[in-house]
Amino acid sequence: MDISGIKRTLLDREVPDRLTWWHTLGSAALTAFVIQIVTGLVLATFYAPAPDHAYESVRYIERVVTSGTLLRAMHRWGASLMVVLVLAHMIRVFSMGAYKYPREVNWLFGVGLFFLVLGFGFTGSLLPWDQKAYWATQVGTSIAGTAPLVGGVIAKLLKGGSQLGAATLTRFYAFHVLWLPVMFALLILLHLVLVVRQGIAPRTSVLERDAPKKTSNEKYPGYYTTAYAASKKAGVRFWPDIIGKDVITSMVVVIAVLLLAVTVGAPLEAPADPTDASYVPRPEWYFLPFYQLLKLFPGSMESTVAVGVPLLLVIALLGLPFFDRGSRRNLLHRPGSLVGLSVLLGGSALLIGAAVRDVQPTIAPETGQPLSSAERAGRALFQRQCQGCHLVMSSGGNEGPALTEIGAHHTTAWLHSFVENPARFHPGSKMAAFGPPVLSHQEIEELSRYLAILRGAPGREVKPEMHDTFPDLDNNGGVAPDAKATEASKPKARNSNGK
Ligand code: HEC
Repeated sequence: MDISGIKRTLLDREVPDRLTWWHTLGSAALTAFVIQIVTGLVLATFYAPAPDHAYESVRYIERVVTSGTLLRAMHRWGASLMVVLVLAHMIRVFSMGAYKYPREVNWLFGVGLFFLVLGFGFTGSLLPWDQKAYWATQVGTSIAGTAPLVGGVIAKLLKGGSQLGAATLTRFYAFHVLWLPVMFALLILLHLVLVVRQGIAPRTSVLERDAPKKTSNEKYPGYYTTAYAASKKAGVRFWPDIIGKDVITSMVVVIAVLLLAVTVGAPLEAPADPTDASYVPRPEWYFLPFYQLLKLFPGSMESTVAVGVPLLLVIALLGLPFFDRGSRRNLLHRPGSLVGLSVLLGGSALLIGAAVRDVQPTIAPETGQPLSSAERAGRALFQRQCQGCHLVMSSGGNEGPALTEIGAHHTTAWLHSFVENPARFHPGSKMAAFGPPVLSHQEIEELSRYLAILRGAPGREVKPEMHDTFPDLDNNGGVAPDAKATEASKPKARNSNGK
């Protein structure tokens, strides 16, 4: 084997001078990946991918295995850091126009790697099989399941059946430790081979002076070759001139992961309980913008957004180097790209902010207790749609009756049925019907759950005294004096899962 040849291509290669610290983000991401491999190998040695044993095996790793707690925490933080670094690397490449000629294909490899990293995060987060793991995956797979046509197939492919269970865990484990690593290794190899062959993208100014306007111009390749060669004239070599910076960044990454693992650690919640639907799931932070975005749309549009937004993102990322043929590279010289990037980053930051605020338990003043996520959603809907007419405690209009104590008199099922179509109960009711298409059934259910916990101002709750009536029992509207709610009077209600 020609060792010196390899050394010449890998280490002695000339690189453009004055590369920035931003240029080290790629190696930083690679370092995080190496941390994931090393810690992952140890974790996999002790982990048991079956619902009955997964949680216990993680506890075993934490309690018995030497440095097990530390390794698990490092793996967890390494994952987050890897997402950050890959994103930062992509933003760097985008901002310097380094995806343009001749690196279009390598950009595609990079995009592929980014999605594989997200895949690692998604599959890995199920493995501890605690409450968070189970319910976040439940949400994730059901979002995938809402896709038109292919949704059912995708959900089934992910879960390995109709339920999230043993088959899902086996599958996610296989994805996490076999499929994804193999694909990742292949892509990263191609990615690095191209980096070595095409060289590192130089500072943007080098490739903007006297450049043809379009990279598709037939003169562009010739121009590029000359300009790129000129940028290397200074005789700067990868070794030892550049590698120093990479080593420093890599060390910072290792130290950061260690520090986070030691100081913050990795949480392990109670074992997964598939029957506990009251658990409020919260996905990993890097899925939060998407998760929060879905919440902004009414239920009827969820599947469109759930599929449309990721699809658009994939198309935009893959199409970028082929549609954007302008030869300007500096982000500041590309107003369209600058706006696009700002909107994407700003929007994501806002969504993450909103999500973080949302998951804090809200103690509503009118109930004096933390709300479940459905009740919280119902409360927000109420403020938008109903408060103009209805008073709760001291705020709201008075066109309709005050609802401060409504939960003491009606069940969730009755409320659902009433809000859907008040005329059903009070013919000629002045309140409009809110059933579909105005609100979806899910939204009405959320509203009803919220109303059902309104039992009077905190500290002055009234005694429950139910007045549920249903049209077939009491046709002339109003509350019949003896129509106390009984279970038998409920069957007409839809979605009757009141508390
Ligand atoms: C245009 C004003 C208006 C709006 C908006 C409105 N309501 Fe009403 N609502 C009324 C009126 C008037 C009544 C009383 C007439 C009746 O009972 O049919 C009423 C009655 C009710 C009742 C029955 C109260 C009881 O004690 O029997 C409930 C529950 C209710 N509204 C819930 C809602 C919800 C939830 C919303 C929002 C989706 C809403 N309302 C929006 C005007 C409104």
